[in-house]
Amino acid sequence: MSEVKNIVMSGIRPTGYLHLGNYFGAMRNYVRMQEEYPCFFMVADLHSLTTHPDTRTLKESVHRVLAENIACGLDPEKVAFYCQSHVPETSELYLYFNMLAYKGELEKTTTFKDKVRLQPDNVNAGLLTYPVLQTADILLHRANLVPVGKDQEQHLEMARNFAQRFNHRYGPVFPEPQAFNYGQELVKVPSLDGAGKMSKSENQNATLYLADDDDLIRKKLMKAKTDAGPTAPNQPKPDYIENLFALMKLVSAPDTIAHFEQAYQGCTIRYGDMKKQLGEDMVRFITPIREKAAAIHSDEDYLRRVMQLGADKARSSALETMTLVRSAMGLNYY
Ligand code: TRP
Repeated sequence: MSEVKNIVMSGIRPTGYLHLGNYFGAMRNYVRMQEEYPCFFMVADLHSLTTHPDTRTLKESVHRVLAENIACGLDPEKVAFYCQSHVPETSELYLYFNMLAYKGELEKTTTFKDKVRLQPDNVNAGLLTYPVLQTADILLHRANLVPVGKDQEQHLEMARNFAQRFNHRYGPVFPEPQAFNYGQELVKVPSLDGAGKMSKSENQNATLYLADDDDLIRKKLMKAKTDAGPTAPNQPKPDYIENLFALMKLVSAPDTIAHFEQAYQGCTIRYGDMKKQLGEDMVRFITPIREKAAAIHSDEDYLRRVMQLGADKARSSALETMTLVRSAMGLNYY
């Protein structure tokens, strides 16, 4: 590649509600990246067809994802925020990459094997070529920086392979995309039951969604696992208590955290009080986002304008790439 221009691209599946883990793990990074790089953020509605062929709720889900992301600070004026199906060049590039992807390597993909286990009656070809479509999403904008979590590493490795194969066969068109996040470690938001991190699909009572109402937030936090408290000064904290402190660090004021930290070290902590305080701080954090998302969600005209603007930006970038692709491939016959 002659010149390296940093371009950010990521996709968001329109399945499930966004939760606190998505906020601190992904969206906050997007909001920062939009100030520093040209960014493409895409609602992966075509990808969702591989697992959710029933499209009746799709419109609702797409609108919700748009509204929630904008409520979290993603600015459709600054970035290209668009729907995958509004950019048909994606599908064309997907087709070309399908000719460079081998059945054997696709079958070995971890996410494919997981999904075969989850939906043995619907092992469709789209499921098999999911990483090829993802490659097309990224390379359509010749993006090199892809903010994703660990579970997407293998897909990115495949994207690099497909890019290399294309470049080798037809000429240097594509960069090799890399996972990209600020800092060493992604922020992990622990789940409330002390088991793993917050996730879309697992225990809903242990996950705080950006759409949860105030009482539900308080209730979920009051139910978080605790115990009878430390029995000696300066004891190490069990995981589930560490988790409560970790959540506090995300949303509470420093002197609140210091107060409970001291109470813990001095064995005077009352977890009921701590969870109540955390509940109030969490409500203060989530409520404005939830209300903003609801207002945006109900404004269909605005959402239509956002999608149109996003599609225009994404298509103009896609057209440039596809001109290079067709000419590199020799698919220009006039
Ligand atoms: N596969 C990604 C996920 O499951 C979503 C996605 C689709 C994506 N296209 C992408 C991520 C392009 C990064 C880049 O979360």
